[in-house]
Amino acid sequence: MRIGVLTGGGDCPGLNAVIRAAVRKGVQFYGLEFVGFRDGWKGPLDRMTKPLDVEAVRGILPRGGTILGSSRTNPLKVEGGVERIKENLAAEEVDALIAIGGEDTLGVATVLGDQHGVHVVGVPKTIDNDLNATDYTFGFDTAVHVATEAIDRLHTTAESHSRALIVEVMGRHAGWIALHSGMAGGANVILIPEVTFDIDEVCGWIESRFARGYAPIVVVAEGAHPKDGQMQIQTGELDAFGHARLGGIGERLAAEIEHRTKKEARTTVLGHTQRGGTPSPFDRWLATRFGLHAVDAVHDGDWGKMVALRGTDIIRVPLADATKTLKTVPMSLYEEAKVFFG
Ligand code: F6P
Repeated sequence: MRIGVLTGGGDCPGLNAVIRAAVRKGVQFYGLEFVGFRDGWKGPLDRMTKPLDVEAVRGILPRGGTILGSSRTNPLKVEGGVERIKENLAAEEVDALIAIGGEDTLGVATVLGDQHGVHVVGVPKTIDNDLNATDYTFGFDTAVHVATEAIDRLHTTAESHSRALIVEVMGRHAGWIALHSGMAGGANVILIPEVTFDIDEVCGWIESRFARGYAPIVVVAEGAHPKDGQMQIQTGELDAFGHARLGGIGERLAAEIEHRTKKEARTTVLGHTQRGGTPSPFDRWLATRFGLHAVDAVHDGDWGKMVALRGTDIIRVPLADATKTLKTVPMSLYEEAKVFFG
């Protein structure tokens, strides 16, 4: 069998570890052949390929990003896109695809598999950790490490200057990165998309922190938003999957905090630093296991499945389950973190 591999959506640390594991096991154990498709769904759409054999995956385990490239191309929005993909897969003599991606990439994989008979196995990735049906996605742990280190560093400079420091983290519509890094870094306020914040309450926490002789650190998720009418928030342009580009809440928050508390407030936007660089050991371990199990699913002809982490086991779940609903932060977890606010 000849297997196509693609990585779609926002990149994250660990993608190369999946590719390496799938190719190594596929070639060595099952005698499979591989071809890489470049830049997510753009690859099979435009027949952009890259050789993918054991030589090609040597040394890539600790490397961030993806050797295959990525994009947010949505072939379902391209006229004749599905037919083009099917033709190109046939022309490349590809029997099945391993699609490594988040909600959007796997959503396309689900449609191609369920409605158009493409043989596909999914692997969940995203720093946002918002995919249902898996306990964790790889990339998330690395992002939390980056954000936690930043928070640790910001504490000392915030104290020196008696400033409120705001850290804006990614995560789209889920507050996982904010919650985990905020708790790990001892933030004094954590704001997540799942709970609209009250700016009066936020300023109260900031003032109480200053009153005790310390400088507050606020971790705000890029998708967090205030109660209606409290602050003006801009919405960014939409991508091919209809998602607005987020970012900017940190700056808005700092301006509002300064205005209301008369204390200096500054913002650090961590942005793509959370997605770049070498994966953490946990992400390498998880990504490697996902790659091994994805190729087992291919060998078994178990199409339309996604590999997932359940406890310490890797299981297979229907692809459709992964993208049906977003996995967001439950209120009970957020309540735990609130013990440390203010
Ligand atoms: O989904 C991963 C992610 O990093 C989100 O946290 C963020 O909102 C988005 O991608 C940013 O996308 P881009 O890199 O296309 O600006």
